Amino acid sequence: MLNVLFSARDGLWGVYEEPLRKAFASRNLSINLQPDFSDPEMVHYIVYGPTGPLQDFTPYSNAKAVLNLWAGVERLVKNPTLNIPLTRMVDTGLQEGMVEYVTAHVLRHHLDTDRQVLNQNGVWDVVIPPLARDRTVAVLGLGALGEACARQLATLNFNVLGWSRRQKEIHGVSCFCGEDGLRDVLSKSDIVVLLLPLTDGTANILNADTLALLPKGAAIVNPGRGALIDDDALLAALGSGHVGAATLDVFRQEPLPAEHPYWHNPKVTVTPHIASETRPETASEIIADNIHRNENGEPMRFLVDRSAGY
Ligand SMILES: NC(=O)c1ccc[n+]([C@@H]2O[C@H](COP(=O)([O-])OP(=O)(O)OC[C@H]3O[C@@H](n4cnc5c(N)ncnc54)[C@H](OP(=O)(O)O)[C@@H]3O)[C@@H](O)[C@H]2O)c1
Repeated sequence: MLNVLFSARDGLWGVYEEPLRKAFASRNLSINLQPDFSDPEMVHYIVYGPTGPLQDFTPYSNAKAVLNLWAGVERLVKNPTLNIPLTRMVDTGLQEGMVEYVTAHVLRHHLDTDRQVLNQNGVWDVVIPPLARDRTVAVLGLGALGEACARQLATLNFNVLGWSRRQKEIHGVSCFCGEDGLRDVLSKSDIVVLLLPLTDGTANILNADTLALLPKGAAIVNPGRGALIDDDALLAALGSGHVGAATLDVFRQEPLPAEHPYWHNPKVTVTPHIASETRPETASEIIADNIHRNENGEPMRFLVDRSAGY
């Protein structure tokens, strides 16, 4: 019998308990799943939500792995009390949701949909938008989420440029890496989508220098992490008109404080970290599969590389 602790913010236990039990049962795993154990030393695996109460892993001295419910692990990789294997979430539901969010906001900027939606003022204002084939979209980060978005945008005929740490090959996407690659990509892109993890290598990747590389009027879509962008630099670029619009889903501080200038800037759309959510049914399958693998001596999937930070 394996003891599995479910530790996440209030409300999630009720959502995850049944799908997790079902996924464990379908693999014939004998599991005692609980939101609390009186003795932390009894715990073998921790299914984990970073915004829950558990921050000190020291008492869980017999735990074999932490299975994160989120794709982002920036809070966990710097936790000095966590020194057992850590997996991040790669979930088909999470991918589908992100593809829908990114496609919707890229199309909105591409077609300038706001022009019609927000201006029903009796003026027959004919402006024909370009075709997707004439629009260049950058996807920074070509992991589980970025690659899925880049592929979808390519099927819509956008000229898609992708950028990652290591060189990738993706059908229909021109792939770049390295600092020169980033400069190349940004200098050509009308719309930039950020799907990088937050690490020491990606913090403030959009700053005054890199924003200046963009063609005038470019749009930013950031469902990655807030600290990928230097906020003051973005606000200045929006103010000067160099950046035309931004759709921001993630912020340095969440919830975004009511007085933050992003809320009041007409060129900025704030969405409250809803770009995509882990889906309990599909995510529970991933977690059960990883415990099953580990118990059978097979490597777990989606292990976090602590040295790379993601
Ligand atoms: N807003 C939301 O609702 C929401 C939901 C889920 C996730 N997210 C965010 O989305 C992020 C991406 O998720 P994912 O599952 O796609 O992550 P992932 O699979 O780990 O992919 C990360 C990608 O970023 C690239 N990368 C990392 N460091 C880099 C660097 N220094 N320079 C260039 N490229 C770099 C990686 O390059 P390689 O391919 O070379 O490794 C990889 O392509 C998460 O970390 C999280 O912050 C947001």
